[in-house]
Amino acid sequence: MAVGSDDHDRLDVQRGEDGIHIGFVTLVSIVAAVGGLLFGYDTSVISGAIGFMQALFHLSNFMKGWAVSCLTVGAVLGAAAAGSLSDRFGRKKMLIVAGILFSVGSIGSALSNHMGWFVTARIVGGAGIGVSSTLVPIYIAEIAPAHLRGRLVSLNQLAVVIGISAIYFVNRWVAGAGSPRWDVTTSWRWMLGLGIIPGIVFMGLLLTVPESPRWLLKQGAANRAFAILERLNGAREAKVRMEEMKRSIQSETGRLGVLLQPGFRAALVIGIVLGVLQQVTGINAIMYYAPSIFQQTGAGTNAQLTETIIVGLDNLVFTILSLWLIDKVGRKALLLTGAFVMTISLVVVGALFQTGNTSSPLILVFILVFVAAFAISFGPVVWLVIAEIFPTRIRGRATAIASVALWAADYLVSQTFPVLLGSAGPSMTFWMFGLMSIVAFLFTLLVVPETKERTLEEIEQHWGRRHTSSP
Ligand code: GLC
Repeated sequence: MAVGSDDHDRLDVQRGEDGIHIGFVTLVSIVAAVGGLLFGYDTSVISGAIGFMQALFHLSNFMKGWAVSCLTVGAVLGAAAAGSLSDRFGRKKMLIVAGILFSVGSIGSALSNHMGWFVTARIVGGAGIGVSSTLVPIYIAEIAPAHLRGRLVSLNQLAVVIGISAIYFVNRWVAGAGSPRWDVTTSWRWMLGLGIIPGIVFMGLLLTVPESPRWLLKQGAANRAFAILERLNGAREAKVRMEEMKRSIQSETGRLGVLLQPGFRAALVIGIVLGVLQQVTGINAIMYYAPSIFQQTGAGTNAQLTETIIVGLDNLVFTILSLWLIDKVGRKALLLTGAFVMTISLVVVGALFQTGNTSSPLILVFILVFVAAFAISFGPVVWLVIAEIFPTRIRGRATAIASVALWAADYLVSQTFPVLLGSAGPSMTFWMFGLMSIVAFLFTLLVVPETKERTLEEIEQHWGRRHTSSP
């Protein structure tokens, strides 16, 4: 199912010499994507800190799960607020707020000396992550030309993964067995507290980027919107885009109720279900708990942390590959391939544990295959699709709904994983994720549309048409 008209001539104009100021659009997208770096850093920093905290605070399995997952509770709250606040105050201002929340959370958690304090600070930081994870993809989608949108929005996911990998290196450096930097009372504080550096850099850089022209136009600031569009797209393309945006916004209603109309309802279902599936297929069981999983395979502390670094690099390499593929082969083909390979690797990992091959290097190999498959598919594509499938007037609020569902599912997985591992055992746990990957495959195959190379307005028309043609 393809979205929108086949107006490729216009896309050729877009690609033309006088067309897009690609350098500028890319630069602005990179600045916004620093928000992804904070996301990756803050969600994964806990994988290194948790060992120290367990030793210091004597945490039960449940409390260990809570110390890891409380951040996602903050993210749910942040994502929920981000939508309407950004539809009202703009994308840029709310991204700056995200930077503030993130920095406060970093310092607060680093200085905490009991769990209540730690959890509160992590929830504040998590709120920042919820806001930025929702708004960065929207912001980039709203400034990017259609044929580069997938790649530019996915810079956010690339930054997430860079943040995750960087933290794995820091953890190995600080927490490796025999490391002179190992100190149960201070090491984890450094890990958490250093997050303030990217937090401040993010806020500073944001001051230099323009507001989203689509949002400005929606606010009635047509001249400012046009000036920004011209800088981003060049004069000729800016005129075409401006007309298209005006038509679209005029025909839109700003009420969220529009999502209950049959066409847009399908968009909402797709956003929510993809968000949940991205999480319940188990990626963060690995991202947040990798060292604990490798411990189950008999690896010592250093080997656990080194294997975790390999997982991070694997994620990074395949995310880069997906950036290259996303606007070429399209979103749907990537999702299908990813879900297929994820299913196979999860079934194999479960089987290795089930048959007692716990020390087999194949466990690491198939975890790497799983992460690679996720990195080319559900990682970047879900964040992209939920930022591009909704109409401009309600994009903030609608994307936020999908983002809340995603973070709530992340909470569920990260809270229950240690408990599941202890009660159901690793094989059942990985098979459950495998089952979810089969659901992900079928859902993509049957329901998800292709949005590659379509402008946001063309995507919007697609849902509108479905609405008018519905009984
Ligand atoms: C996506 C997911 C996030 C996960 C990351 C791993 O961004 O939303 O939860 O940690 O991919 O690469």
